[in-house]
Amino acid sequence: MAEIVDLGAYGEDFTRDPYRYYAKLRAQGPVHRVRLPYGQEGWLVVGHQAVRAALTDPRLSKDWREAGLQSDESADSALWTNMLDTDPPQHTRLRKLVAKEFTARRVEALRPRVQEITDELLDTMLAAPEGRADLVEAFAFPLPMTVICELLGVPAMDRDAFRSWSNEIVAPTSEEAAQAAVVAMSGYLVDLIETMRNAPGDGLLSALIRTSDEDGDQLSRDELVGTAFLLLVAGHETTVSLLSNGVRALLQHPAQLAALRADFSLLDNAVEEMLRYDGPVATATWRFTAKPVEIGGTRIPAGQTVAIALASASRDQEQFAAADDFDITRDARGHTAFGHGIHFCLGAPLARLEARIALRSLLERCPDLAMDADFDDLTWRAGMLMRGTEQLPVRWKG
Ligand code: HEM
Repeated sequence: MAEIVDLGAYGEDFTRDPYRYYAKLRAQGPVHRVRLPYGQEGWLVVGHQAVRAALTDPRLSKDWREAGLQSDESADSALWTNMLDTDPPQHTRLRKLVAKEFTARRVEALRPRVQEITDELLDTMLAAPEGRADLVEAFAFPLPMTVICELLGVPAMDRDAFRSWSNEIVAPTSEEAAQAAVVAMSGYLVDLIETMRNAPGDGLLSALIRTSDEDGDQLSRDELVGTAFLLLVAGHETTVSLLSNGVRALLQHPAQLAALRADFSLLDNAVEEMLRYDGPVATATWRFTAKPVEIGGTRIPAGQTVAIALASASRDQEQFAAADDFDITRDARGHTAFGHGIHFCLGAPLARLEARIALRSLLERCPDLAMDADFDDLTWRAGMLMRGTEQLPVRWKG
């Protein structure tokens, strides 16, 4: 069996800058046997080609039950009854029922409202007399959270409680805390769906409760809970980090920021480069092997966990020239920030819409936006899944 690489031994440094560790691993090969930061053994895919191959390999299952694996008690929660945690044909069925309602038209129709929420948040933030704020708290979190709640039609939700459970689940500080968050989140969503079933509105969640396809297929209660969980969590956690990582990259690269300010037609491309350079999802959700599988020339035995390092693929020099440079004019196509294959992000058009509106408005209204902390003092989100800082202190002249 291959030698094991202990990712936990890299410590905090790996969370702050995984890229240099990934570069070393890529130089040794595209797939490695690893000990994940919480001590679990598994396999890590780091090369761009191998990452794309793994993401489209039907032998890698998203369903640990299929692979004969069992984790903790929270593994049975209805939260995981969603498209991202299932394989075809169940995945195809769940994605189709959601995609039928989560249409390009529904997303495009949100444009004026996203602009309005952006403007309101910036009005409040920029009214701070001292001319400084935590950009995550004041802007990057409330924007996507408000948008996804309104899209789903749950405006009265307890967002602070939801945020703390959600954060704990995607960036766990301990196994116990993550399990407690799963139980609390699940109870909350069961109640929410019951309430909405009794008093339906015109949001996406009510549509999903009502929806059925041409064969009369409908989402079950657990599937509704799992889908609401996936949309609410995926709909905000990631976009928060796209905004904060993107702004951080611009502030760390003044020439790139100046180029963007001088020509906002570069914005769409700049957002793609932000996704490539420092994407919000560093590692795809775990895959599992039910049978032995060969990826990138390495044989992975049955019953194993496979982590796919999206962050590593997006910095692979074989795919992107000068991959460690942040360059808003480069062709960033082929980045893996939204995944690849059948689980490719369903919310990518919404994420792009929000990021383009938010970044343009922020930069236009804050011509002298600057960091208000040392880059080295920022606290990074825990775990391997999400990439981003907990806060992003900024200042501007009032
Ligand atoms: C910048 C923002 C975002 C990023 C970087 C991102 C990234 C990703 C990635 C990498 C995956 C695939 C995970 C895997 O294969 O393990 C994914 C799946 C998914 N995302 Fe996103 N996402 C973002 C925003 C959103 C938004 C706004 C929504 C919804 C409102 C959303 C909904 C979903 C859903 C439903 C899936 C599962 C698709 C499936 O399993 O077929 N995402 N996303």
